Amino acid sequence: MIDLHSHFLPKIDDGARSVNESIAMLEESRKQGVELCIGTPHITIHQENSIRDFLEKRGESIRLLEQKIKETKADVPALLYGAEIFLDNDISAYTDISKLCIENTNCLLVELSPLAYNVSYAEWLYSLTIKGFVPIIAHVERYPYIREFISELSGVNVVYQMNAKSLLKHKWLNFLTEINESGKRVIVASDMHNTGLRKSMLEKARHKLEKKQADIVNEVFYNIAKELIK
Ligand SMILES: [Fe+2]
Repeated sequence: MIDLHSHFLPKIDDGARSVNESIAMLEESRKQGVELCIGTPHITIHQENSIRDFLEKRGESIRLLEQKIKETKADVPALLYGAEIFLDNDISAYTDISKLCIENTNCLLVELSPLAYNVSYAEWLYSLTIKGFVPIIAHVERYPYIREFISELSGVNVVYQMNAKSLLKHKWLNFLTEINESGKRVIVASDMHNTGLRKSMLEKARHKLEKKQADIVNEVFYNIAKELIK
């Protein structure tokens, strides 16, 4: 599996609180069958400086983690880095926005408000696509307005992402197959934050989908992500 959305980087957001917790999260991912895991710490951008400061902080966190992995020879997935950007303005306008893409891709993981729909969302996402970016919309099941929004976005080249834990509920498992059947790209990621209540549930979600619709398992847990990372 490829995990495109997770918070294993230490001491940078509400994810791993220590480097030891990062290692434990990644070892667990490896055991579940994840071959590549993307670290996507939270960021909100209101000025160009926020990107620079974030990258500096993320760099420190990566150094700390990679040093520890080397020392302990921990068995962890291959790692790449990106960001989870809270979309509350036209982020396509920032010169350095491409620096927040998942490494080796033109993909930007964005999250929307779980409370209120913003009338500019479609326009902001469209602006990103015309600049060559592929927005991945994080945990779509979290937005009460998502069905209408997916219709509104028809024709805009985005990828929908669902959290593994949500798929343990029939309602969201059905939603995933529904998005897939409509011909849109949907992927599953862990959005893991720790080794406790917000740990990775990828393996469980995979089993659940295997029972419902085995023929799309590889697509949503691996192939689509693999195509995005070239
Ligand atoms: Fe997240």
